[in-house]
Amino acid sequence: MTSPAAYSLRPVRESDHDAVGAVIEAAFGDEGPEVSSLWTEVRQSGYVLAELVAVDARGDEVVGHVGVSHAWLDARRELVDVAMLSPLSTRPDRQEQGIGTTLIEAAIEAARATGRPMLCLEGSPFFYGVRGFERAALHGLEPPSRRTPEQAFQVVLLPGREDWMTGRLVYPDVWWRHEAAGLRDPDLAHLEELFAQKFKPLD
Ligand SMILES: CC(C)(COP(=O)(O)OP(=O)(O)OC[C@H]1O[C@@H](n2cnc3c(N)ncnc32)[C@H](O)[C@@H]1OP(=O)(O)O)[C@@H](O)C(=O)NCCC(=O)NCCS
Repeated sequence: MTSPAAYSLRPVRESDHDAVGAVIEAAFGDEGPEVSSLWTEVRQSGYVLAELVAVDARGDEVVGHVGVSHAWLDARRELVDVAMLSPLSTRPDRQEQGIGTTLIEAAIEAARATGRPMLCLEGSPFFYGVRGFERAALHGLEPPSRRTPEQAFQVVLLPGREDWMTGRLVYPDVWWRHEAAGLRDPDLAHLEELFAQKFKPLD
């Protein structure tokens, strides 16, 4: 008999797109439709570098999804093509079974395979900080918006990254059209307060 928690990962297929949208919508709640339409537009814009799904044991139901897409790093020497991870979703009834963690590991490997020198994201430092990511500010990286708390902007450095690759991350326009950079008040102020209690400022 197959364990109910069993799942496997594979690259997304075009026939999965509706199911991926449904998983994103279920995972992100009120923000779900917006995140799902953002990701559809990222796909249509040709910015996707890798897209993976977690499927159930029989392989016919999508239970998780991760997207890796293109962004730039505006370094002093030149504009650098980098990768970013977003969105990450696990269907609510399949959360807490390790699917999100496995998708992150696969996304890091997928970003490495593209040859891009880093994988960036905006997200919870409590969640991603124990899954391979570190504070991007430690490596001279600035988030796309000053409305991204410094602790939430995180990175995995990959082979090919060089010391001069510092500066601001720049999102393609689709992320701005969907208001997907940083947070706005009052959520931003709440998060800054939480982080100030939990994290020491960087020197
Ligand atoms: C975040 C998410 C993908 C995790 O998926 P998952 O399959 O449950 O992940 P795992 O089982 O590997 O890990 C579960 C861990 O995630 C933590 N977690 C879930 N949501 C979290 C959040 N918003 N902030 C911080 N940690 C979170 C759980 O507390 C648990 O931590 P633990 O391992 O220390 O107990 C899933 O909760 C989800 O889809 N959330 C809604 C969408 C979202 O917020 N995506 C991330 C955007 S940055």
